[in-house]
Amino acid sequence: MAITNQQPSERSREDELANEMAEVDLARMGPRTPGGRFMRRFWMAVGRSQDLPKGATEPIRIMSVDYALYRGESGRAQVIDYRCPHRGAQMHLGWVEGDDIRCIYHGWKYDCAGQCVEQPAEDSSFASKVKIGSYPTREYMGLIFAYFGEGEPPQFPPYPGERPDAFVDLWNVEHVPCNYLQCFENSMDETHVAFVHRPGGSHKNIADLPVVGAEETDWGMLRLGTRANGKVRRSLHYMPNVTRVIVPPVAGMDGVGGWVEIFFNFTPIDDENHLWLITSNVTVSGPEVDAYRAKRAEYHEKIAAARPARDLAVELMAGQHQFAEMKHPDLVIIQDIAVQAGQGRIADRQHEMLGRSDRAIILWRKILARELRAVAEGRPGKNWTRPPADELPTLGF
Ligand code: FES
Ligand SMILES: [Fe+2]
Repeated sequence: MAITNQQPSERSREDELANEMAEVDLARMGPRTPGGRFMRRFWMAVGRSQDLPKGATEPIRIMSVDYALYRGESGRAQVIDYRCPHRGAQMHLGWVEGDDIRCIYHGWKYDCAGQCVEQPAEDSSFASKVKIGSYPTREYMGLIFAYFGEGEPPQFPPYPGERPDAFVDLWNVEHVPCNYLQCFENSMDETHVAFVHRPGGSHKNIADLPVVGAEETDWGMLRLGTRANGKVRRSLHYMPNVTRVIVPPVAGMDGVGGWVEIFFNFTPIDDENHLWLITSNVTVSGPEVDAYRAKRAEYHEKIAAARPARDLAVELMAGQHQFAEMKHPDLVIIQDIAVQAGQGRIADRQHEMLGRSDRAIILWRKILARELRAVAEGRPGKNWTRPPADELPTLGF
């Protein structure tokens, strides 16, 4: 990583940092990697609650491992191993029975703790010896979270988000064809907004370039964007993969809904793909709620009729469209995916030229490198605490 536009003392400090970071791979999240072992200490958002009705099953891939996700008839969501240990059938093909799931191949049934409780064609003494992996699963703010680590999971919910003066509005789930850290870093990059989102004009209020600052906290990183008029936009980055930020009225809403508090969860599918799960807190009340919901329904209809944002982003990356001429109800998402995934499936961080506007990204990488190095060396690392409820993001202009 080369650093430019900095004083010599800053440069040597950052060069030192670059050397430190070169020793650890920040992007890889497989189960045996330092990154994967670190990430598995936290709750991970794996999907939207509304996409998993009772009795539904689906395959999911999280941090390079496949699993089956299902919702029992009591309403309980559950993540279990991908394959049946009998002869390897995929568990999501099976039937949900109560809160249990029965393998499609030879009918072995597992309870939601993964214990085999029935094997129709086997001796009755066999089932008690068979167990598949099952992973703690909880739901919050419209998202399903699972814990893939060892021992007891951390406190749930993983971050405070629900507010008495707001209702939760979920966005589409985006499947982004690049490493999760690129998208996460993009959410720390306030400067990109004025350029990437200039076409379409959705973010014109924040085109005024801020001076970027960042501070490590007990729960992650606080990012500060100071404008020319002295106002400061505060954005929160929760360890290990959540951004909480306030944005002006969302594109396509014609100003209905006012400011929106957005939560981005960036969940690695594998090292080259991730899920971008977006929830928001909307603070309208009274008759405005109906107006908001009507406008949002209109927006969802437009999205359903449009081509998938990801496909268009991939076509932009291949040069099949002009960036500035792209039109779509989710234009902002397309624009973001194009610049994030356009860096490559896994960005080459060794050859970047970072400047002062990248301060937040630099700090996050430094923190992550330190934590991953601790994992690699068998040291405990920092004791990350749950973010406090009174530490809120601000719009700042
Ligand atoms: S493979 Fe699942 S019951 Fe045989
Ligand atoms: Fe963006």
